[in-house]
Amino acid sequence: MKTILDPCCGSRMFWFDANHPSAVFGDARSESIVVTDRSHDPAGTRTLNIDPDVLMDFRDLPYPEDSFKLVVFDPPHLVRAGPRSWLAAKYGKLGADWREDIRKGFAECFRVLEPHGVLIFKWNETQIKVSEILSLTECAPLFGHKSGKRSDTHWICFMKQSNYRE
Ligand SMILES: C[S@@+](CC[C@H](N)C(=O)[O-])C[C@H]1O[C@@H](n2cnc3c(N)ncnc32)[C@H](O)[C@@H]1O
Repeated sequence: MKTILDPCCGSRMFWFDANHPSAVFGDARSESIVVTDRSHDPAGTRTLNIDPDVLMDFRDLPYPEDSFKLVVFDPPHLVRAGPRSWLAAKYGKLGADWREDIRKGFAECFRVLEPHGVLIFKWNETQIKVSEILSLTECAPLFGHKSGKRSDTHWICFMKQSNYRE
C-alpha cells in the first residue's frame, strides 16, 4: 500500500531507500542529465537520473483528497541560476509565478493528506527566506530543523489539522 507521496522527487537523493515500497515518487520531468562532478576527478562527470514513478505537477496532484499519511515536499528553491547550472539541473528552478506555484503546491499536499497526516517540507533559503515561503500556506508549522553547510537548509514538519483551511 502506498502511504507516502514525494511529488517532486528529483533524483531521490535524500531517501535512505530510493525505491521505498510505501512511496509514490513523482516529478514534472523524467530525464538523465550528465553533470560535472570534480569530487573524484578534475574532469569528472556524473549522471543524474530523474525517473519518477508518475509524472505529476505538484500544483495539481492526480490523487483524491485524504490519499496519503505522509507527504514530503521539496520543491525547487532557486529563482536565479545560469542555464548550465549544476544546481538548477539537480534541483530545478522556480518560474516567474513561483509564489502562486508554491501556494498551490502546499494546498495540494494538504488536500491529498489524510486528516492528521504529516507534511515534511524542505527548503533552502539562499535566495528566498523561509519566512516568506511559510506565508504561502495557512497551516502553521509544528517544528523544524536547520541543516546544511551554512544552515541554509530547513526541514519543517506540519500536521494536517481538522481546522486546516485551504
Ligand atoms: C529540490 S528538487 C528535489 C530533490 C529531491 N528531494 C532529492 O532528494 O533529490 C525539486 C524537484 O522538483 C521538480 N519540479 C519542479 N516543478 C515541479 C512541479 N510543478 N511538479 C512536480 N515536480 C516539479 C524538479 O524537476 C526537481 O526535480
